[in-house]
Amino acid sequence: MSGTSTSTTVITNIATLVTNDPSLGDRSPLGLIQDAAVVIDGDRIAWTGETSKAPATDNRVDAGGRAVLPGFVDSHSHLVFAGDRTQEFNARMSGRAYSAGGIRTTVAATRAASDGELEANLTRYLDEALRQGTTTFETKSGYGLTVADESRALRIAAAHTDEVTYLGAHIVSPDYADDPAAYVSLVTGEMLNACAPHARWIDVFCEKGAFDGDQARAILTAGRAKGLHPRIHANQLSYGPGVQLAVELDAASADHCTHLTDADVDALASGATVATLLPGAEFSTRAQWPDARRLLDAGVTVALSTDCNPGSSFTSSVPFCIALAVRDMGMTPDEAVWAATAGGAAALRRDDVGRVAVGSRADLVLLDAPSHVHLAYRPGVPLVRGVWRRGVRVV
Ligand code: NIG
Ligand code: FE
Repeated sequence: MSGTSTSTTVITNIATLVTNDPSLGDRSPLGLIQDAAVVIDGDRIAWTGETSKAPATDNRVDAGGRAVLPGFVDSHSHLVFAGDRTQEFNARMSGRAYSAGGIRTTVAATRAASDGELEANLTRYLDEALRQGTTTFETKSGYGLTVADESRALRIAAAHTDEVTYLGAHIVSPDYADDPAAYVSLVTGEMLNACAPHARWIDVFCEKGAFDGDQARAILTAGRAKGLHPRIHANQLSYGPGVQLAVELDAASADHCTHLTDADVDALASGATVATLLPGAEFSTRAQWPDARRLLDAGVTVALSTDCNPGSSFTSSVPFCIALAVRDMGMTPDEAVWAATAGGAAALRRDDVGRVAVGSRADLVLLDAPSHVHLAYRPGVPLVRGVWRRGVRVV
């Protein structure tokens, strides 16, 4: 580290530090260090170790025997939208099934909104997420479905994050209901040309009633030719080709993974595609839970994210998703915390976030609890007491 500049801070007296570096501390995947300290230099982590060995710095923060972990990496959200779908949720909770057709309601509201309204909405949900510990997030278009509306959504998102995903292929635009092939041509042609400069990723909702395997392959391949990297909404509502297509195309992530055959699990285990599980969606649609245990036991890398959107999962809370994953998806608290930090980073093919290692980004969460296990043990309790993003305390 570079001495004691004024931008150097040491956080001491951390009861449990989650590093996600298995060469540190207890040598578990979480690399837990007890009675730990962390030194932040500028926007980076400069040192980790035991408090008794921490170097002297000007700025000292006493964690008071609480836990510190990497900021959450929410690798799947849909935050550029207007309106909400309270009535649809209410109907579901009275027994109605989730239908992806509800996306059209949000498309109409989003098209009608001004840039300022979309920006204000996005900022509101980002602030909400930050207060709950999210320091890196991905977000998508997909509620515009015209060249102008998709590209404006991505432009608005790109002002807030590098992890921007073009999802013109969310559903077939209502304007093309009679000619889905023409919509696929638009998504892979003029719309892609307008959107690619604002995005890092391309996504497709591969599902009955949205896009089939051949359409998804064509869309993702066209995006790749424009320099975008693939990720897929796969196997959410039913079995289908999405997961195996994701592995075939080396997508960074196959998201949802709720309905999986053994061949799907084998494919994920054999490739580099992360399975991103989104329990907020199963919670809000009263659907069956994804079987995280089965994936983990097969050796698949699992990420946990919110899927925050007004239709299927209107939560910005990663802690809530951790609690669901532990309670209902067979994950241990350690596995769920790893999945929401290092797992999210893997799903975005990032190695500078999701861990507390020398040189990584100084994105940290201070919990009002002695260990990370409390995120699942104390569900619904606002445990996030402090957040540092790029070395600056923001909460
Ligand atoms: O990830 N599955 C597709 N897209 C979203 C839902 C969008 C909506 O219902 O508005 C999802 O669950
Ligand atoms: Fe989604």
